[in-house]
Amino acid sequence: MSLEIHSMHSLTPEELSPRASYRLLTSLVIPRPIAWVSTVDDEGVFNLAPFSFFNAVGAPPPTVMISVDQRNGKPKDTLLNIRANNEFVLNFVDASLLTPMNATSGEWEHDVDEFSLAQLTPTPSQDIRPPRILEAVAAMEVIAKQIVPVEDTTSTMVIGRVIRFHIREDIFREDGAIDPLKLRPLGRLGGDNYGTLGEVIQLARPKIG
Ligand SMILES: Cc1cc2nc3c(=O)[nH]c(=O)nc-3n(C[C@H](O)[C@H](O)[C@H](O)COP(=O)(O)O)c2cc1C
Repeated sequence: MSLEIHSMHSLTPEELSPRASYRLLTSLVIPRPIAWVSTVDDEGVFNLAPFSFFNAVGAPPPTVMISVDQRNGKPKDTLLNIRANNEFVLNFVDASLLTPMNATSGEWEHDVDEFSLAQLTPTPSQDIRPPRILEAVAAMEVIAKQIVPVEDTTSTMVIGRVIRFHIREDIFREDGAIDPLKLRPLGRLGGDNYGTLGEVIQLARPKIG
């Protein structure tokens, strides 16, 4: 293998504006999965918003995280609702749902129900109060277990336990996993860019001993 030598640009976050360091981080750490999070407030108003600071962080039991920043120095509705009742649904976004997902990311007032705004159908969850999105190919009912301020940032990380999966039957593979080409996940890239899956490559891990 011949190794090409490229010149590298090295810099620290302190040399950058906060906006520029955000842009670098979020355009390097890609593609990020998108959690489309539904919650409900004490009055029963539904809320829906996308979060790409999202990942699986452990299993078993299946455990996920999202990280919610502030809006004008105040907590976003998603965090307020999770703090109030510890419940959220994590809906999956496939390529066909890009436009409604984007509509729900608008900084709407607290009393706006983003389901009706984006013409999506709320359907009851089985074990928690926030509804799931009928149009989503998969969803997970989640109970928040830890709400952790992320030191030196304005973000709050919510770590939650998946208590139920809802998955469209036709996207399962025979081995019980999900067929990625049928899930058609949308990945968030930097800025307003999104990507779909490219080639799927299979490679078994090395077996030692
Ligand atoms: C694809 C996408 C991913 C996003 N990811 C995040 C995120 O990880 N954290 C965050 O605080 N905001 C994120 N946002 C912005 C929120 O969706 C937006 O602030 C939304 O209005 C929050 O709604 P809420 O106040 O109803 O909770 C994202 C927006 C988009 C379009």
